[in-house]
Amino acid sequence: MAGDRVFVSNHPLVLHKLTLLRSADTESKKFRELLHEVSLLLGYEATRDLTLRETRVVTPLAEAKGYELAERVGLVPILRAGLGMVEGIWQLMPHAEVWHIGLYRDHKTLQPIQYYNKLPASPTVQVCLVLDPMLATGGSAVATVNILKDWGARRIKFVGVIAAPEGLRALTTAHPDVDVHLAAIDDHLTPPPTLPSDPPEGYIVPGLGDAGDRQFGTG
Ligand code: PRP
Ligand code: URA
Repeated sequence: MAGDRVFVSNHPLVLHKLTLLRSADTESKKFRELLHEVSLLLGYEATRDLTLRETRVVTPLAEAKGYELAERVGLVPILRAGLGMVEGIWQLMPHAEVWHIGLYRDHKTLQPIQYYNKLPASPTVQVCLVLDPMLATGGSAVATVNILKDWGARRIKFVGVIAAPEGLRALTTAHPDVDVHLAAIDDHLTPPPTLPSDPPEGYIVPGLGDAGDRQFGTG
C-alpha cells in the first residue's frame, strides 16, 4: 500500500505513544498530551525536506555559516480533531501560519460537509501541512487538499496518525503529488451496522475510536 509518497513512521517513540493513544483506558487529558507528542514527532519527520537558505551567524567566538528555513509553512488543521495536532508542530515551527478548515462527516453518507474556511484570497505560504489524526474514507482529506489547490497551494503534505487502507487509497489516487505522513495504516473500516450494538459505519479498525470526541470529552 505504501507508495513513494507515503511515509509510515517506525520511530519507537511514535509506536509506544500510538499504543497508549489507541487504548480505551486513556482518558481525555492524557489523550490530548499523547496526540500533541505524536504530532510533534510526525511533524519532525514531515519537515525533513524543507528548503533552507544559507545565512551567517555570529557566535560568542566567531562568525559561522548557518541556515534558515527558506519557505513559509502553513498548518491546516481539519476541525475538530486536527486542532490537537497544531501545538506540537508549532513547537517545532513557531512562525508557521495556521489556517483552519471546518469539515464534518455526514453520518449517513460519510461525505464531508464544509462549515468553515477563512483562507485569504491568495496563498501566503509555500508549504501546507494538512493535519487530521484520522484518514478513514479519505473524504475529508481529499476535500481539504482540493480546497488548498483551488486556493493556489503548490506543495501540500498530509500529516495524520492512523489511516484506513480505503482512505489512504482515496487520498493518494485523488492527489498523487501529496506526501502522506502517518503513524500507522490499520486494517479496515467498519461496515454499515446490522445490529443495534454494532459501531457506526466508517470507523477505522482497530483505530482509536472518535478522535474528536476523545480529545474534547464529547463522546
Ligand atoms: C473525523 C476525523 C476526520 C474525518 C475522517 O472528523 O477527524 O476529519 O472524521 O473521516 P473521513 O476520512 O471518512 O473523511 P469528524 O467528521 O468526526 O468531525 P469532528 O472532528 O468534528 O468530530
Ligand atoms: N473519525 C474518527 O475520529 N475515527 C475514525 O475511526 C474514523 C473517523
